[in-house]
Amino acid sequence: MTTGGNRTILSNRKESGNSAKPILIFPGGMPRSLEYLQKCLRDGQAVIGASSLEYDVSREKYPSWLYLPYVTQPEFINALKQVILKFDIGGVYSPNPVAWNYLNRVLKEIAPGVPLVNNSPIDAELSGYRAARSRAHTLLERPLPLASDLVTKPSISEGELAALFRHADVIPGMCDHEKICALCEIARRSASGDVVEIGSWWGKSAFILARLARCYEIGNLLCVDPWSNEHLVQNDEKGLVDSGSAQMDAGEALMVFEMNLLPYSGDHVNYLRMPSTDGAKHYRGHTSATTTAFGITNYRGHIAILHIDGNHSYAAAKADVLAWSGFVVNGGWIIVDDYVWPYGDGPQRAGDEFLAENANRIDVAFVMGSALFIQLSLS
Ligand SMILES: C[S@@+](CC[C@H](N)C(=O)[O-])C[C@H]1O[C@@H](n2cnc3c(N)ncnc32)[C@H](O)[C@@H]1O
Repeated sequence: MTTGGNRTILSNRKESGNSAKPILIFPGGMPRSLEYLQKCLRDGQAVIGASSLEYDVSREKYPSWLYLPYVTQPEFINALKQVILKFDIGGVYSPNPVAWNYLNRVLKEIAPGVPLVNNSPIDAELSGYRAARSRAHTLLERPLPLASDLVTKPSISEGELAALFRHADVIPGMCDHEKICALCEIARRSASGDVVEIGSWWGKSAFILARLARCYEIGNLLCVDPWSNEHLVQNDEKGLVDSGSAQMDAGEALMVFEMNLLPYSGDHVNYLRMPSTDGAKHYRGHTSATTTAFGITNYRGHIAILHIDGNHSYAAAKADVLAWSGFVVNGGWIIVDDYVWPYGDGPQRAGDEFLAENANRIDVAFVMGSALFIQLSLS
């Protein structure tokens, strides 16, 4: 490291191994800057961080670091020019809207050929919200034409739908937009009762179900999942799912589930950390579930919406259907996720068998996204 105070350049702590010109990240301490830094480090892209603070705690995270005046200071332009020349900067990343706008204007003049590597930070931050709003708008304009015998409740507002889409997008997991739209539509045509999910993992579909259950006053959500690595084994034909699962940490997944659901839970979400068949026995004998994270939640003992998304082996999917479908009320919904699944046919066989065995008491059945949706008849 070259010495001489806060404004000196720290020499590279490790070689990036990449001959590409370095990207200047300025200001280097913003959360988006640090995310971008991580991406560059993963990609082997050389980077230099910069800040206008005399001492910026983020400097330690960068392989190289330097000081730049604030963009409002008259010496900024010259200092930037010197840095670009001296370090042969290939591009600039700036997540700060004011700095980005300014750089967008001046870079062309002082360093033609040195681009801003990111789009407008305002557009970047808002794009997810805009997409959610547009999805909500489309769903309201073109609702699913479902012929359910239950009275259809008026939809929640565009804003509420957009909020649901947006927050669901932030939670990682396996629930595509088609399926979310279908869930929004069936929730409007739901009886009242508990909402039960078999298999919740990080909580993406659980969040959606919790919000819909709340918005349409259906009932409380109970998630049943062992969150144990042992139960992730599906014996899929090619072993692709199992080898991916082996890299997961089920205990961490439960922590992520809690982080995702706690802000929305009130007293209406809880879980049973056990396999679904044990969960069904518990459900039959108890009217509540208690966890440290969510406290006590009461349940009615009958189900309005049952979402089956646990282990996808045929034996497990069949056991889930057998253990839980008997709790579903007339007019209630059963959703078998991954009915269309490239790694095996467990959910499809279990779903088809249920359809065949219960044909005389099924009102509606359709596939949307990759899930099978079934509504039981009212009588
Ligand atoms: C595909 S993930 C669920 C994804 C989640 N529904 C979502 O939308 O993101 C499957 C989950 O099933 C759980 N699981 C495995 N065996 C189970 C069983 N016997 N009973 C309940 N859940 C089970 C796993 O722990 C895992 O969390």
